[in-house]
Amino acid sequence: MYLNKVRICSSRLAAAPTHFVRSITVNSTAVEVEEGTAQLKSWREIPGPSSLPLLGSLQHFIPGGMFHNLNGIDFTHKLYQNYGPIVKVDGMIGMNMLIFLFDAESVSQILRSENWMPIRSGFPSLEYYRKYYKKSKDHEQKPTGLVTEHLQPWREFRSAVNPVMLQPKIIKLYTTAIDQVAQDMVARIRSLRDENNMLRGNFGVEMNLWALESIAVVALGTRLNCFDPTLSEDSPAKRLIQCVHDFFTIAEDLDFKPSIWKYITTPKFKKAMKLYEDHENLSKHFIQQAMEELKTNKGKSSNEKGVLEKLMDINEQFAYIMASDLLFGGVDTAANTMTATLYLLATHPEKQQKLREELLSKSEKKPYLKACIKESMRVMPVVSGNTRRTTKEYNILGYHIPKDMEIVFSHQEMSLMEQYYPRPKEYIPERWVADKDDPLYHGNAHPFAHSPFGFGVRMCIGRRIAELEVETFLARVVENFNVEWFGPPPKVVQTALNYVKGPFNFVFKDI
Ligand code: HEM
Repeated sequence: MYLNKVRICSSRLAAAPTHFVRSITVNSTAVEVEEGTAQLKSWREIPGPSSLPLLGSLQHFIPGGMFHNLNGIDFTHKLYQNYGPIVKVDGMIGMNMLIFLFDAESVSQILRSENWMPIRSGFPSLEYYRKYYKKSKDHEQKPTGLVTEHLQPWREFRSAVNPVMLQPKIIKLYTTAIDQVAQDMVARIRSLRDENNMLRGNFGVEMNLWALESIAVVALGTRLNCFDPTLSEDSPAKRLIQCVHDFFTIAEDLDFKPSIWKYITTPKFKKAMKLYEDHENLSKHFIQQAMEELKTNKGKSSNEKGVLEKLMDINEQFAYIMASDLLFGGVDTAANTMTATLYLLATHPEKQQKLREELLSKSEKKPYLKACIKESMRVMPVVSGNTRRTTKEYNILGYHIPKDMEIVFSHQEMSLMEQYYPRPKEYIPERWVADKDDPLYHGNAHPFAHSPFGFGVRMCIGRRIAELEVETFLARVVENFNVEWFGPPPKVVQTALNYVKGPFNFVFKDI
């Protein structure tokens, strides 16, 4: 789903189809230069950190190296500072070579051309689990979901689920159910406050509970009761939340960092396979529960049908897989976006007040609400960028880029560049509602600099749901509380997602 980087040839993947496997020998692949591209420089000449045979750029990531211990955000920043708008980072053990782009026009060139059956590498370890590890147990070839499929199988799946997941008028039907979850969460915040109006317990977990409860009403058409005060630590809901979090963390280790799991079974690889299985089983638990409820309530429930039930009518297999992927893709993404937005509004009280006034005006259109969320996704995004594997050749910034290259679009870095957004580091929701003649007007920025939900036919399938959830809950919070923050900013840790880790110094005062 999110920024990802790896694909190599190995004995573990030897049986995989050719689109899955890319040889580590890519660095020495002879690239045929077509007529008209001869004057271009070779991709081998793209600037970037030096590399050694076999080890690639590993030397820079070990103690003493220039990238040692840098978090992802600082790493990409340093790449741009040191090498400019296009940077090549040679593959390390178990990783492909990556080309980073910090130039919005070049990003648009690739994204617009790769818009038929775009390949985003996804999560190789999850893909391995779903396609090969599980297959060896199940002995049957099933579609594996949007995150892990490519080309024709991806297209078939995506075409089936698009009408149910992306049409604004269909998503709008969940407004009441999502709002009920938001109101219940507001009541929970109220009940969890201590004498200083701070939340007892871990704020991050609370946001995950809200996100899981919200996505469940869409995916399964049912409430999971995540706000039940008697919910134990080993309840399926809490275990699912932990599982999703561990998933993004272990995926970072296996898929984003040098790792030998593709050659030999490491303890981390075993842990990941177990984790993916746990997630599958927990999802099954909720899906089966929802199916039983469906049977008992057939025709009686006034709620909008969930994605599960809607897809059941089209393709049962797709229904199970999609519902399970929503329970995985829809939790940490929405939760961290919400936390970041609350933090930014708490530290910009005048913007929070302006938003409150818009909400209290009861006008149907809420442009400032949307603007506050858009701006927080620009300044503190949960996803740092996006990727594509090229399916054709390109001329990018004077370099010839052949097929099968992994390109990383560094949207987080570009979103904070002065050349695209004036006063880029400031939280200014007004830029999203400003008139054309205002220097802050967002339309002056290149449309491909900032792209929080990705682009084109492979754009985030949960986009409309995420927007509805965050807008609805944010509105309820700001209507009910004056949100304050004290002390230093929270830590943001980048694994496969950007996690706002706290400490969470929020204060929720009644209005
Ligand atoms: C603020 C929240 C979210 C952000 C910033 C976000 C961002 C993204 C991005 C950047 C992509 C890659 C798109 C591309 O390749 O062009 C993506 C894909 C995806 N997202 Fe989200 N997402 C969010 C919420 C969600 C939610 C709530 C769900 C589930 C309901 C979800 C499910 C997915 C899935 C299944 C894909 C893969 C789509 C495909 O490959 O066809 N996301 N998301």
